Amino acid sequence: MSDAIMYEKIGDIAVLAANNPPVNALGLAVRQGLIDGIERAEKDGAKAVLIYGEGRTFFAGADIREFGKPPAEPFLPDVCTRIEASPLIVVSALHGTALGGGLEIALGSHYRIAVPKARMGLPEVLIGIMPGAGGTQRLPRLIGIDKSLDVITSGRQVGAQEALEMGIIDKIAEGTPREIGLAYAQELIDAAAPRRATSEMPNPAPVDFDALYDAVLKKARGQLAPAVAVRGVQASSELPFAEGMKRERELFMELMATDQREGLIHAFFSERAVGKLPELDGVAPRDLNAIGVIGGGTMGAGIATSALLSGLKVTLLEMNDKAAEAARGRIAGNLQGALKRGKISAAQFTDLTETALNVATDYAALADADLVIEAVFEDMGVKKDVFTKLDAVCKPGAVLASNTSYLDVNEIAACTSRPGDVIGLHFFSPAHVMKLLEIVVADKTALDVVATGFALGKKMSKVSVRAGVCDGFIGNRILSKYRTCADYMILDGASPYQIDAALEKFGFAMGPYAVADLAGLDIGWAVRKRKRAEGMDPRARDFTYADKLCEDGNFGQKTGKGYYDYAAGAKARVPNPEVLPLIEADRATQGITPRAFTDEEILRRYMASMVNEAARVVGEGIAKRPLDVDVTLLYGYGFPRYRGGPMKWADMQGLPALLADIKSWAKDDPYFWEPAPLLEQLVAEGRNFDDLNKDAS
Ligand code: 3HC
Ligand code: NAI
Repeated sequence: MSDAIMYEKIGDIAVLAANNPPVNALGLAVRQGLIDGIERAEKDGAKAVLIYGEGRTFFAGADIREFGKPPAEPFLPDVCTRIEASPLIVVSALHGTALGGGLEIALGSHYRIAVPKARMGLPEVLIGIMPGAGGTQRLPRLIGIDKSLDVITSGRQVGAQEALEMGIIDKIAEGTPREIGLAYAQELIDAAAPRRATSEMPNPAPVDFDALYDAVLKKARGQLAPAVAVRGVQASSELPFAEGMKRERELFMELMATDQREGLIHAFFSERAVGKLPELDGVAPRDLNAIGVIGGGTMGAGIATSALLSGLKVTLLEMNDKAAEAARGRIAGNLQGALKRGKISAAQFTDLTETALNVATDYAALADADLVIEAVFEDMGVKKDVFTKLDAVCKPGAVLASNTSYLDVNEIAACTSRPGDVIGLHFFSPAHVMKLLEIVVADKTALDVVATGFALGKKMSKVSVRAGVCDGFIGNRILSKYRTCADYMILDGASPYQIDAALEKFGFAMGPYAVADLAGLDIGWAVRKRKRAEGMDPRARDFTYADKLCEDGNFGQKTGKGYYDYAAGAKARVPNPEVLPLIEADRATQGITPRAFTDEEILRRYMASMVNEAARVVGEGIAKRPLDVDVTLLYGYGFPRYRGGPMKWADMQGLPALLADIKSWAKDDPYFWEPAPLLEQLVAEGRNFDDLNKDAS
């Protein structure tokens, strides 16, 4: 027997305990151990077999790290079939998260029991595949087509109570999985319960699978796995079990070979890697109980909401009583949303708004804060004034953070007597919803302050990425480059609507012009004015159509019109007829003869500008690894997850071809398209971005 499955016989019950920390993934040793365990139990005079997991969970699925490597026998579907074929009664006792292949092992068992807090599901579509060990064949036989499609195409986790109601499990009991499993197995032996194989249950009644396939494909915005999984479930209804298993295998292998699978698994591991920084090993974060937030506008209110929901006490400081009450109202509105969605109870709402939140106008109220986040106007003078005051009132060791989008955190830190305590914590709007947090480490930021930033992110359930100081850090710096690329394509002949459509087809939730309308066109206008005032590089191109749109009072969704007209609502956007004439006038003034762009060229240029700037960001150490860029774009900028992020996308396209494109465009515009040194270096060495991720791990 392997150590990954421990065998023991207790009375009539053979116990197979999984021991493969941290999540009992079903790697080769575990699969072999299960087969060996069942065979031994059958020879050992046992009447029943109990399968459960030691540690924090039942099996959390196939071992994702084995994907892409040559598969090794025994394969998981055969393990499930072998378990089910046993003449002994097999019971699975679930705790933690029984996911994917883990739930499929349980479905191959004859009876299933779970602790009340157990969660289960078939999340394969979230990593670009579908259940491949009988999940699409057994679950529909057990609970019917509709409920199975819900679980399989969403990949969502189902709590034990709901699973019991759906018929996925037979029983819930309090105790350890070992205790409840042993008791249940004994109960079944005493009752002479029959062996009960899911595969022998009748085929479930069919539904209109073609219509469902189309609907699921549309909802998934270009992601294939959920729709392909529908075809797997269809087989459970139309084919005998063994043939259904073959069909499931074919579809599973098809998805396994896709770039989407590779992209999604890259995203899975990258989002876990971003928080692992060697320099933080063994560095303890500072205490975090009470925080301060300065400025209760869009961002400050969102940050305060997120902090309150994560159990922190918050003091929010505003300029005057009126602004303070308005901020309180914004936070209460956000929390009202959480109450409506059932995230908090009415009692918690009252506690959060009346006890945990304190609004103030006097800096003295921040004297006890462990960490203060400033979210006032984006103006260096105002920020410096705030940090000077914070320096005077905050207790020693308090972390002083800025939520600035673009400003120099080193300059902000330098106006205090404690630059080691100063850090950038860049949240995204709306801050209580968006998961991304850029942790901006300035030259003098102390390591335990960085660790405290990550601790705050974890407490707030954010995905935190370390960034260095530069104009726009990781995300906004790359954003301004690819936005400029789009703006240039408009000058040269593309329309905002064609660009949005091409990028939405690629998988972005919204194209850049729809996003600009949502964020407010006044933001970009202010940036352009600032850059012109600072003196733009003469080699950069400029344009006025977007300014004219703003001068006419069109700021996007909030004014009802921007690039689109929102008279019929945000979803029913239609092109604003005033826009194209403004663009045409701009082209005419600049003497540009417009040319046609294909969707493919739009995508290629947009992505190349993104990747090229990202390569600079990594080359300069602003992002430590390419995966930090990927996670930033995935969580903050609507980059389609199934493409893995821009760096992963670039690797999959091939860096030499991308560099060749950039060089060919550089002939017309050498300033904008100057290749990033890191990109040139990687191509010369025959390496890619993921090699850099591996070097760093
Ligand atoms: N395979 C390999 N490693 C896994 C894994 C898996 N299925 N699931 C988690 N891990 C690793 C993580 O990478 C992490 O490793 P690290 O410590 O080196 O970073 C460690 O286990 C702990 O994971 P988390 O940090 O995510 O721990 P949480 O407690 O937050 O979450 C979890 C646990 C809910 C199990 C979450 O990790 C998860 O959702 N895992 C993926 C589950 C999944 O997709 N299962 C289906 C696999 S595909 C399959 O089964 C195919 C079959 O149908 C044939
Ligand atoms: P906002 O204009 O909505 O809110 C700013 C708030 O700060 C106002 O309520 C104002 O009364 C208050 N304020 C100004 N000066 C103050 C002072 N000296 N003391 C106390 N309160 C003061 O601005 P928003 O959008 O919330 O932005 C705040 C900061 O967050 C800026 O630095 C911005 O760049 C950054 N940011 C903005 C994002 C966005 O999408 N809006 C995203 C990420 C960061």
